[in-house]
Amino acid sequence: MSIHIAAAPGQIAPRVLLPGDPLRARWIADTFLENAQCYTEVRGMLGFTGTYRGEQISVQGTGMGQPSASIYVNELINEYHVQQLVRVGSCGALTERLKVRDVVIAKAAATDSSMNALRFQGYHYPATADFHLLRAAVEAAEAADAPHLVTTVFSSDSFYHSRPELTQNIVGYGVDAVEMEAAEIYTLAAKAGRQALAICTVSDHLVTGEETTSQEREQTFGEMVTIALDAMLATPPA
Ligand code: HPA
Repeated sequence: MSIHIAAAPGQIAPRVLLPGDPLRARWIADTFLENAQCYTEVRGMLGFTGTYRGEQISVQGTGMGQPSASIYVNELINEYHVQQLVRVGSCGALTERLKVRDVVIAKAAATDSSMNALRFQGYHYPATADFHLLRAAVEAAEAADAPHLVTTVFSSDSFYHSRPELTQNIVGYGVDAVEMEAAEIYTLAAKAGRQALAICTVSDHLVTGEETTSQEREQTFGEMVTIALDAMLATPPA
């Protein structure tokens, strides 16, 4: 049992989906997994293990932002020996290369976070996805005919920005979407030699102002979860 996850050894699968919202974790378990059992409710941050096409899969809520996601990913990696971590979340579109409901497959994550600033002290680390999971997710999105973009995301520490011009600056360097967790998940996985990927659906558009209804969000979220599950099953753990 770890500090923030009340699971016994062996209760968490080597492959874990990571939604930010714990209620999304329950929805994924109810909708996609067979025989799902809840293994933690600590702080309301739900986690479940079940099977998908006969393979053990867990789904663990992470909360919002890199500090919160970091707690769960550290414990999943170091105490539960998880091999594959795939974030399934939402993001805001920063350019017109994206429309709401599109699926963003994050090949890399830029960040304004102090987490990597402190870790690397003046060196700039490229937080990148696992190539095999990335390739498998692209193939799954193509097979599902789901509109998707493979791009760099901006993992921001702020949802409400005090200096939006800084975000505009980074958009000029091939960054198309903003979310709040991928950079830390990629960095922790790389350090431990594990595989990580972030897939997000566009829930709001910061250029056009377009938004999704909750029903649309649920449908696109489901498509993204299927892409994530298929990508994990197609990728042998490293
Ligand atoms: N900013 C950060 N994270 C997000 C956003 C956003 O606008 N939309 C969905 N996740």
